[in-house]
Amino acid sequence: MKEKIEDLKRKLEQAKLGGGEKRIERQHSKKKLTARERISYLLDEGSFEEMGALVTHRATDFGMQDEMYYGDGVVTGYGTINGRPVCIFAQDFTVFGGALSETHAEKICKVMDMAVRTGTPMIGLNDSGGARIQEGVSSLGGYADIFHRNVSASGVIPQISAIMGPCAGGAVYSPAMTDFTMMVEDSSYMFVTGPNVVKTVTNESVTAEELGGAKTHASKSGVAHFTALNDVDCLEQLKTLLSYLPQNNTAPPEKLPFQPGTEYREELMEIIPEHPNQPYDMHQVINGVIDKDSFFEVHKDFAPNIIVGFARLGGRSIGIVANQPMHLAGVLDVNSSLKAARFTRFCDCFNIPLLVLVDVPGFLPGTDQEWNGIIVHGAKLLYALSEATVPKVTVITRKAYGGAYDVMNSKHIGADLNFAWPSAEIAVMGAKGASEIIFKKEIKAAEDAEAKLAEKEKEYAEKFANPYKAARRGFIDEVIEPRETRRKLLKGFSMLEAKKVVLPQRKHGNIPL
Ligand code: COA
Repeated sequence: MKEKIEDLKRKLEQAKLGGGEKRIERQHSKKKLTARERISYLLDEGSFEEMGALVTHRATDFGMQDEMYYGDGVVTGYGTINGRPVCIFAQDFTVFGGALSETHAEKICKVMDMAVRTGTPMIGLNDSGGARIQEGVSSLGGYADIFHRNVSASGVIPQISAIMGPCAGGAVYSPAMTDFTMMVEDSSYMFVTGPNVVKTVTNESVTAEELGGAKTHASKSGVAHFTALNDVDCLEQLKTLLSYLPQNNTAPPEKLPFQPGTEYREELMEIIPEHPNQPYDMHQVINGVIDKDSFFEVHKDFAPNIIVGFARLGGRSIGIVANQPMHLAGVLDVNSSLKAARFTRFCDCFNIPLLVLVDVPGFLPGTDQEWNGIIVHGAKLLYALSEATVPKVTVITRKAYGGAYDVMNSKHIGADLNFAWPSAEIAVMGAKGASEIIFKKEIKAAEDAEAKLAEKEKEYAEKFANPYKAARRGFIDEVIEPRETRRKLLKGFSMLEAKKVVLPQRKHGNIPL
């Protein structure tokens, strides 16, 4: 027995070395942690239990039978983060560049199945040269097995991907189907086809970083929700993100202890500028209503004309969707609609109530937007907010014009509570544009057209640039002083905790994709 135990120990020690000391050094020289170092940093000390440490590949072509490494390029298992169970895989770049073989995929599938069966969040740390070239279609089949599981798990358990090295070709589609993708700056990239293929096909010269680095995907494509400075920063952000999420779709997010105070926020009284076209930073409003320092922004550098992110209100997790007047005056366009719709649907899947802060002058006009399908993309946000059954609360701080008023969680599409500040302007459009259309003849006939326009604009603004017409009809439940907002939200969301919605049977709706 003693000998057998020694043999087991030797094997497990060997498994821990992955592709060997030299390749570990190479990984470190690129300022990257190894798969095991990443897991041990992310998970609570001593909590990790590995599954499949002694798995090896079954390939025999190209002399592969002589090159075997325990674990086959991926470390899988379960453990805890701040006491909460998680399932995890971490690709090991030191073994065949973390390339995905049939058995490597089987290990990932096994831990994903366990995550779903136990209602546990699934975390994937990706660092891989793609499909194991020596295995061909077995490896492609392995990817598809993972994709299929990503889809089955979607909306059941939170799935989070960190890209901490290469992620190319078929490998990109698993992270793309998870709920959140985080990328490490300078050491990670994602693309369907790399710079060499791009050069051959389109004759464009582009570096891997420009084509699919963290900054590119965080700002241009929106593929990455978060960027991190390095591996440690990435793992820290993962922990923070997870703290806002529930274990699965049947559980509420964890509620932190909360001591109520006066809850009036005088600083909110000073935010809205005198002139309606003057911008202000909606982050000030967010920070003025949520628990101190609790905002965790998602998609920060993508479509900045809308803000989305998690926060805590009275210790509870909430999701915030807010127009940002600092960028493009807060208009809705293709990218901001996509960003907000996806975030809304995540919150709705996972029982996270939604707060929508509105200051929106409408949809962005122009051929670029129309030809890129603002109609269907805007409809996605409308659809997502309409279908969401979690508690939904709206605060209109200033503009709520036209169709965008309807879209931004209006009473009509199912918001539970609608508040407006006295500075709210709920109308078909801005006073100037409206006057130019409806008083066109009068303005043209006037001796001083400009003075006439100004007079009519004032008249229109007095009538419509306020929240009271909407309040009279009950489209707004309460017009409130800004300082009262946090208190109203605390009480409102607390009341709405008991919300229940029973929907008619259907397979699934047909969101305009
Ligand atoms: N299949 C099998 N082995 C692979 C592999 C793959 N897809 N990708 C990398 N490897 C192996 C390399 O042979 C090398 O093995 P070694 O340690 O025995 O020398 C090891 O992984 C590291 O790769 P290397 O090329 O030295 O690392 P790098 O950091 O310089 O480059 C990549 C990384 C991913 C850019 C590069 O390996 C690459 O282009 N891989 C192929 C990507 C691809 O086309 N994948 C298939 C389509 S999805």
